[in-house]
Amino acid sequence: MGNDIAFETGRLRLRQWRDQDYAPFAALNADAQVMRYFPAPLTRAESDAMAARCRSLIALHGWGAWVVERSADDTFLGFVGLHEPAATLPFAPCVEIAWRLARHAWGQGYATEAARGALAYGFGRLGLEEIVAFTTLANARSRAVMERLGMREDAVGFDHPALPPQHPLRPHCLYRLQRAAWQAAGA
Ligand SMILES: CC(C)(COP(=O)(O)OP(=O)(O)OC[C@H]1O[C@@H](n2cnc3c(N)ncnc32)[C@H](O)[C@@H]1OP(=O)(O)O)[C@@H](O)C(=O)NCCC(=O)NCCS
Repeated sequence: MGNDIAFETGRLRLRQWRDQDYAPFAALNADAQVMRYFPAPLTRAESDAMAARCRSLIALHGWGAWVVERSADDTFLGFVGLHEPAATLPFAPCVEIAWRLARHAWGQGYATEAARGALAYGFGRLGLEEIVAFTTLANARSRAVMERLGMREDAVGFDHPALPPQHPLRPHCLYRLQRAAWQAAGA
């Protein structure tokens, strides 16, 4: 079991995906509140395909969108981690930090805690110079995580190319964090 753990934080464990994560991940992806800022909730098949993609990228690179579980009781909370987004994004190539937690895990600082660990992994172990994050403009909770992490919003946002013109979720904000700023903040 130890080999699939990427790292631990105060209350959390970030690790490779296992078969038993797929059911709670599908429940989270079927929750309209969790998926409010995505085009639609995911079907079981779509959710399983996403988990499998995360799992294979971690197997390939050794890092990625890790499962987050609470150390105290091994409860699956969702994922937090690093990802190379599609080349079609105007600021690609880059590495983004991303998160999606089950509703029961919100409001406890888990996303920020796991993300701090993922930033340390990205800047420390991987030696990245910059990590970005982006979301649709109205996703205040996600933006608040970016701001708590010390990320800075670009003056100009972008339209997400995967969404059709006029789609209300299309306008996005982009946040960036450079390694020097992360180090200066004493991380
Ligand atoms: C985005 C998301 C991960 C943010 O979750 P979150 O719970 O708001 O963020 P955190 O885990 O950092 O928790 C922060 C909150 O916990 C509170 N908190 C409670 N105990 C805490 C503790 N011990 N330490 C730190 N914060 C604590 C903070 O005060 C803060 O509360 P507030 O939201 O009332 O200000 C979550 O809303 C989510 O999964 N959304 C759906 C998926 C999504 O949109 N993903 C992003 C797409 S880009």
